[in-house]
Amino acid sequence: MQIGIPKELASGEKRVATVPDVVEKLIKLGFSVAVESGAGDAANFADDTYRAAGAEIVPSADKVWSGSDIVFKVRVPSADEVAMLREGSTLIGFIWPAQNPELMQQLAARKATVLAIDSLPRQISRAQKMDALSSMAGISGYRAVIEAANAFGRFFNGQITAAGKVPPAKVFIAGAGVAGLAAIGTAANLGAVVRANDTRAEVADQVVSLGGEFVKVDYEEEGSGGGGYGKVMSEGFQQAQRAMYAEQAKDADIIITTALIPGKPAPKLITAEMVKTMKPGSVIVDMAAEQGGNCELTEPGQAVVKHGVTIVGYTDLVSRMARQASTLYSNNLLRLTEELCKTKDGVINVNMEDDAIRGLTVVKEGSVTWPPPPLKLPAPPPAKSAAALTAPKAHGHGAGAPMSAKSLAAVFGVSAVLFLLVGLYAPASFLAHFTVFVLACFIGYMVVWNVAPSLHTPLMSVTNAISSIIAIGALVQVAPPVTSTVAGAVTDRPNALILGLAVFALALTAVNMFGGFAVTRRMLAMFRK
Ligand code: NAI
Repeated sequence: MQIGIPKELASGEKRVATVPDVVEKLIKLGFSVAVESGAGDAANFADDTYRAAGAEIVPSADKVWSGSDIVFKVRVPSADEVAMLREGSTLIGFIWPAQNPELMQQLAARKATVLAIDSLPRQISRAQKMDALSSMAGISGYRAVIEAANAFGRFFNGQITAAGKVPPAKVFIAGAGVAGLAAIGTAANLGAVVRANDTRAEVADQVVSLGGEFVKVDYEEEGSGGGGYGKVMSEGFQQAQRAMYAEQAKDADIIITTALIPGKPAPKLITAEMVKTMKPGSVIVDMAAEQGGNCELTEPGQAVVKHGVTIVGYTDLVSRMARQASTLYSNNLLRLTEELCKTKDGVINVNMEDDAIRGLTVVKEGSVTWPPPPLKLPAPPPAKSAAALTAPKAHGHGAGAPMSAKSLAAVFGVSAVLFLLVGLYAPASFLAHFTVFVLACFIGYMVVWNVAPSLHTPLMSVTNAISSIIAIGALVQVAPPVTSTVAGAVTDRPNALILGLAVFALALTAVNMFGGFAVTRRMLAMFRK
């Protein structure tokens, strides 16, 4: 099958749906690739690099659209583009079916099959490699910080120089979804003091892990709308949130707003009054500008100065990093193509039994298949209520519940008596080993008990390694020492069988030990820069 890559026509759009590196991989999957001449120019991918990767360069858009079995796009296609789409072919790109019902009808009339990358069920972990919304939002969050730094007349990091002390910039991020988290990480890496807020309390840990501080609204209400998105909050919450944001606006040098609930106009979080209270030279980057903006004074697509504050409302943040964005986007499409072409023979199979593919497919051979049926995901574990988390248990001990002082004393008392008995009757060498054993059990218990289940794998690998070292100690004990007397030349050689077994056991233990450390090292490397 031929995959066609037309040039993007939307004004200001610099991305291209496939980059030369991915062309090579598509060809390996058995496809041929046709790229419209100049399609990659704005993202710095010249025709020659596509040609070198094995693509055919086609002079006109019409030839790409009508000559291809599959078309890869970035932006929603225009009516003219849909008219060029060959009947019965497949289109993959951003479609936004809820917002574009007319387009959906046009596509259905072409008897097309359409995979809307924006409709990917993001809850399925297998789908993450195809999640273009996340990869694009990550880039835009990064770029929002760079735009803020560009408009801001000071350093981000605090500095002590001969010319004076510079305090770090204070950055406040509203909304800690994918873009917000990327912005938090970038601003913290540049050395700013970062604070963030989101209606979903579950993101607080993620904010902290990226170097930010989570600022709570002083109002109890759960803000999760499911699937990693927020929900519209009550009037009481919104009032409390406005009060908190007003305080943050007075203090922050830079505000980056990313708050959004899909399908809803962006919540107005930063009022004109708040902008007036910001320090002169402060910056607001309103990422939700296209959906009406989180700030009342935002002008979509523009950077304006109002009340001494620069308000950036660019709607093309991703395109401002076109080369990076095209690379990640085309990788997402490559992963999707791999899912569609498991046989690697250059033919795709849109398998509607596959949850991820079903979610993406908004038109199948001319019939509209959007919206998809709800996903059957395993039910999440019931959330513990705040009361359940804080209230002491009246009876018994659940897993992880702290022991009462009384039972702790009883356990210690019984252990002490047992120890005394062992000390009185057991041989001295046994007592030494027994003490080490008891202490090892205690330390092992304390180490494992308080570790989050998600960290059990690295923990297991390192404990494997450590327990193997203990096994070596045991083996040394098994083999009797080699003794010799100088005068009589008498040597106690260990029994050959024991020696053989010991060497064999040592070899096995070594695998466990070095393997354990190697796995731990690899896991830790994932978190290192
Ligand atoms: P997301 O849905 O992952 O994150 C939005 C976050 O806002 C969620 O965590 C949600 O809980 C939170 N939120 C919703 N209502 C809130 C409220 N009232 N107060 C505080 N937090 C609230 O979305 P994503 O992918 O991170 O995108 C963020 C924004 O950036 C969207 O508006 C998106 O359209 C925009 N965007 C803009 C681009 C540009 O070029 N300007 C490029 C890419 C994305």
